[in-house]
Amino acid sequence: MITCLFGSSRSEGNSKVILDELLKGTDYQIIDLFHKNIEKVIDQRHSDVGVNESHKDDYLDILKKVMGADTIVFSTPLYWYSMSASLKLFIDRWTESLRESDRYNFKHEMSKKKYIVIIVGGDNPKIKAQPLIGQFKYIFEFMNITNYSFIVGEGVKPLDILNDEKTMEQIKILNFNLKKGLKNV
Ligand SMILES: Cc1cc2nc3c(=O)[nH]c(=O)nc-3n(C[C@H](O)[C@H](O)[C@H](O)COP(=O)(O)O)c2cc1C
Repeated sequence: MITCLFGSSRSEGNSKVILDELLKGTDYQIIDLFHKNIEKVIDQRHSDVGVNESHKDDYLDILKKVMGADTIVFSTPLYWYSMSASLKLFIDRWTESLRESDRYNFKHEMSKKKYIVIIVGGDNPKIKAQPLIGQFKYIFEFMNITNYSFIVGEGVKPLDILNDEKTMEQIKILNFNLKKGLKNV
């Protein structure tokens, strides 16, 4: 099962075009983070209070879907040379999950999965998304995640991505490999 965390605010934008192509014929679920309620992380690491149990939002439901998958896709447009805020809200909350060792063996479970990061930007993203790629690499390093790959596509208006032939070709190959993986299960 592939769980895709979709971080664009455009449900029919370039990121969605890529995702549809990537996931065709695979076993997947897409979580549209823009339409989910994820509260901001509360840093209680250095207080006497235990893990914050007071959030009333969609985070734990989403986390369950992430934990149940073997492959995670992070899909985000480049927003101000970074990931979208909706995806960042989700990742920030890992700081709380890391302290909830009774509920999940969070770090260990996350480290066993395969990750695909898809970034789409309009302004020379192959170069200007490099800081974001670096950020994801540090996140993966911290989480002991070693199985990951990046795809960076270029587009401004919806469907522009179809003109980025190299990226669309990469996506097709990845889709083929994901389907092959499915057959080998
Ligand atoms: C708030 C916002 C910030 C953006 N910042 C950048 C940026 O820093 N670099 C860039 O190349 N494109 C930037 N863009 C353009 C989007 O990355 C681009 O239009 C992309 O195709 C959007 O993906 P989508 O079609 O999946 O929504 C920005 C767009 C928005 C709405």
